[in-house]
This record gives sequence, structure tokens and C-alpha cells, in this order.
Amino acid sequence: MEVFEAIKTRRTIRAFTKKATEEQVRRLLLAGVQAPSGSNVQPWEFIIIDEPKTIEQIAEYKYQQTLKMDIDEAILKNPATIEQIHQQTLKTPLSPNRAAKQKKAYQNCAVIAVCNKKGHGIGRKPWMNVENIASVWMCIQNIALAATADGLGVQISILREEHQIAVEKLLNIPDDHELATMIMIGVPEIIPKQREFGTDRSEFNWLHRNRFRKD
Ligand SMILES: Cc1cc2nc3c(=O)[nH]c(=O)nc-3n(C[C@H](O)[C@H](O)[C@H](O)COP(=O)(O)O)c2cc1C
Repeated sequence: MEVFEAIKTRRTIRAFTKKATEEQVRRLLLAGVQAPSGSNVQPWEFIIIDEPKTIEQIAEYKYQQTLKMDIDEAILKNPATIEQIHQQTLKTPLSPNRAAKQKKAYQNCAVIAVCNKKGHGIGRKPWMNVENIASVWMCIQNIALAATADGLGVQISILREEHQIAVEKLLNIPDDHELATMIMIGVPEIIPKQREFGTDRSEFNWLHRNRFRKD
């Protein structure tokens, strides 16, 4: 597949019918690590997770995180809902639609933890961490595009804060590294339509000339 075609057709895959094989995963990771990296540090590490119990545990953390996000969003929209949510959860659990989907995406796919080397520590500057994180995400994009070209799909599944820490512990990620994200790779259940320009943001409304703002 031509590179522009892969860029145009890549979509986040929400459900899989078949796990990417070890061989396919290795091929995609090799495409990933061709990415550029700040000072050529190549700060990426990958953990292939094929223990069903471990996958189930990570999926459950993602479920809990998404549920918490939904509650936080509801509270932000209307502080009065704190009491309502409390009352509701006492009676019946919240309708956990979005959270359930995020959890279900861990089925029928290869599950990989992508880690980055922390760029801070003695003698290091905070920007080194930013560069390492940026480099790892360039690697992830390579993986996603290569997967598209190979007829596979990728879902990024981010874990944050306490859920990120829990997964880092579960996977024995050492202190000088952190979990960038989980990625899942497999055969897409549905191939989503190509994204249309101008739906989320109108075309070129992000383009400026000489100055970001005129004044
Ligand atoms: C940094 C980052 C984090 C993301 N985290 C998640 C995630 O946790 N769960 C998920 O379903 N999708 C996640 N996505 C995918 C986005 O939701 C998706 O890219 C966006 O909705 C645009 O859709 P598309 O990728 O199909 O073009 C993430 C993407 C990025 C770049």
C-alpha cells in the first residue's frame, strides 16, 4: 500500500475478530522502531502480553479508568450530579457503555505495552522526557500505518494516573521507564470509513501564516 493511502485509511479499530500473529507483531514493531527519536535515544521498549489473566487485569483497569472519566465529566458538567451519581450507584451501577467498549477492545487481539525510557533524573532536563515521549509516539504511528498497510488494525488504549501506575506494577516496568500506552493489534471487525476532512475541524482552519494570531 502506498504511504498516502495508509495515512488516509488508517482508523482506530474498536473491535477485532482475530489476533495479529507473533510474526505480524514483530514485523510491525520493526516498522515502529524505524521512527526518528530525539538524540537517537530510541527510548522504546515493548512488552507482548499473552497471559489471558494479565490481559483481563489491564482491560479491567481501563474499564475502571473510563468509568471514572465518565463520572468526572458528568460532575464537571453539573456539580449537582455528585449526589445524583452517588444515589444512582447505591441503587444500580452506572450504565457503563463506553467503559465496557474500551474493555472489550482487549479481546481477539495482540496486546502490547509500549514503554518509554524516562528522560529525567540526575543531570537530565525535563525536555528530554518530552522528546522521549514524542519519539515513542512517532514509533506508535509507524506501527499503526504499517498495520493498515498489512490489513490489520490498531487501537491505542491509554492508562493514566493510578491506573497507569497499577499496570506499571503489574508488568514490572522499572522506575526509569514508564508506560506510554497499551496498543492492541488484530484483524478489524469493521473497517471504518475514511475520515472526512472538514467534519471535526474545517479544512485548513489550523493553518496560520507568519503569526499564530493577527493582533
Ligand atoms: C494519545 C492518544 C490516546 C488515545 N487513547 C485512546 C484510548 O484510550 N481509547 C481509545 O479507544 N482510543 C484512543 N485513541 C484513539 C482516538 O480516540 C482516535 O485517534 C480519534 O478518535 C480519531 O479517530 P481515528 O484514529 O479513527 O482517526 C487515542 C489516540 C491518541 C493519539
